[in-house]
Amino acid sequence: MERKVFSLKYRPKTFDEICVQEVVVRTLKNAILNNKIHNAYLFSGPRGTGKTTTARIFAKALNCEKGMTINPCNQCEICKEIDNSNSLDVIEIDGASNRGIDEIRELREKARFNPIKGRFKVYIIDEVHMLTTEAFNALLKILEEPPPYVKFIFATTNPSKVPKTIISRCQRFDFRKATCEEIVSRLKEIAKKEDLILEEDAYYQIAKRADGAIRDAEVILEQVSVFASLPIKSEDVEKLLGVVPERIIFEYFSELKKGDIKEVLKFLVRIEQEGRDPFEFYKSILQSFRTILLVKNGLPKKALGITEEEYQEFNEIGNLFSDQEIYEMMNILINYERLLKYTSFPEIALESLSLSLLKYFRLKKEMGIISLGKIYSVSPKIAGILEDTIIKEVDNIVNIYYQPIKGKLIILQEHEEEIREVLKKILNKEIKIKFIQREMKEEKKISEIFDKTFEGFEELK
Ligand SMILES: Nc1ncnc2c1ncn2[C@@H]1O[C@H](COP(=O)(O)OP(=O)(O)OP(=O)(O)O)[C@@H](O)[C@H]1O
Ligand SMILES: [Mg+2]
Ligand SMILES: [Zn+2]
Repeated sequence: MERKVFSLKYRPKTFDEICVQEVVVRTLKNAILNNKIHNAYLFSGPRGTGKTTTARIFAKALNCEKGMTINPCNQCEICKEIDNSNSLDVIEIDGASNRGIDEIRELREKARFNPIKGRFKVYIIDEVHMLTTEAFNALLKILEEPPPYVKFIFATTNPSKVPKTIISRCQRFDFRKATCEEIVSRLKEIAKKEDLILEEDAYYQIAKRADGAIRDAEVILEQVSVFASLPIKSEDVEKLLGVVPERIIFEYFSELKKGDIKEVLKFLVRIEQEGRDPFEFYKSILQSFRTILLVKNGLPKKALGITEEEYQEFNEIGNLFSDQEIYEMMNILINYERLLKYTSFPEIALESLSLSLLKYFRLKKEMGIISLGKIYSVSPKIAGILEDTIIKEVDNIVNIYYQPIKGKLIILQEHEEEIREVLKKILNKEIKIKFIQREMKEEKKISEIFDKTFEGFEELK
């Protein structure tokens, strides 16, 4: 029997098998039902989210022998040819390797001829953003006045590199990343058909690594199923991917929290001896900070694909710091990326990085920071009011550093009595309160990371 990789074997063949991209599918179906087919479509979105798959199904829907339909038959010659990528009417072009003007000119020449078997000639240009400027210009000409039987589907992972002139002539569809939950349920379906058994954690471990790409998740599932025995555990996935288990990261954070340089260095030597890749470890730390920030800002567990325990741990660290401080630490981390990648001494870079982070953790320890978590447990209302402030106690004076937001000070002053009561309860002594305005800096790099993280989580924003 022919053996196919999962990602081809389970490639959806009908609209209804496509998961995650409900909006895209619904709109395309409506276009077919109402017979309102545009000349050109732009499918944009992260890798492995179904762009090519959807383009092929749409092409079948347009050309199926049974008539234009939202349920292509997959039995007729035309459907089969499209599935096997050998239809003469559905032409797939890889924009990355056919970037030049000559290829597009040739396309224009051929587009003049009627389709051979189907109703339409469908050009699917993958990675369309890779075309040269001249090629785009040539493409634009045919987009302006295409023969009625020619349809274009452009796919891209990078729509910002596609000229506006092209985009404005297309109907655009944004494919989104799949959430962890969605990937897990897709993997479970495949596992069932393949008689694989995985522990729940293993599914999540795979989904997390796939970062929204369904194809990547399928590939990892297949790889791990080849070498691991059943039931597949999350350690099997970790081994395969060389990822650093969450447990190790939490140990790292716990050392940082204790604030002892010697112990932190000892810990780093230990993980080096365990043979862990410093760069993988670095990536996990950065990833964790991102998670801390997201947890702190209320992104649900479900979207992050973490367990309840992990959520609590991240939450606790997040409560130690303000958003601003987390930004600062993440910036330190990002600045280490190149260094860690290219140095001959990544272990030393990791130590130096850890000491920079340690400074932040020690500051909290030495300066009597009162965490929002503690305040929350006494009064959720006051915790809400004190959100995004830093609260430090020094010699019976509690300094509350607030962000320069209009009206913030007034709100704080209005609640001064209640705040004092809560702090008194926590510290078990009489205190004075001082409100002090903090300075804010713009952190561009970080806001970019943040946007990237939210990609595909539109509805959760
Ligand atoms: N939305 C989806 N529903 C079901 N399976 C999917 C989906 N997206 C991707 N897959 C799986 O991943 C495989 C690859 O998908 P596809 O080639 O369509 O992705 P793509 O978005 O075109 O990726 P790339 O940008 O890398 O070209 C499919 O064969 C299928 O197994
Ligand atoms: Mg593709
Ligand atoms: Zn058909």
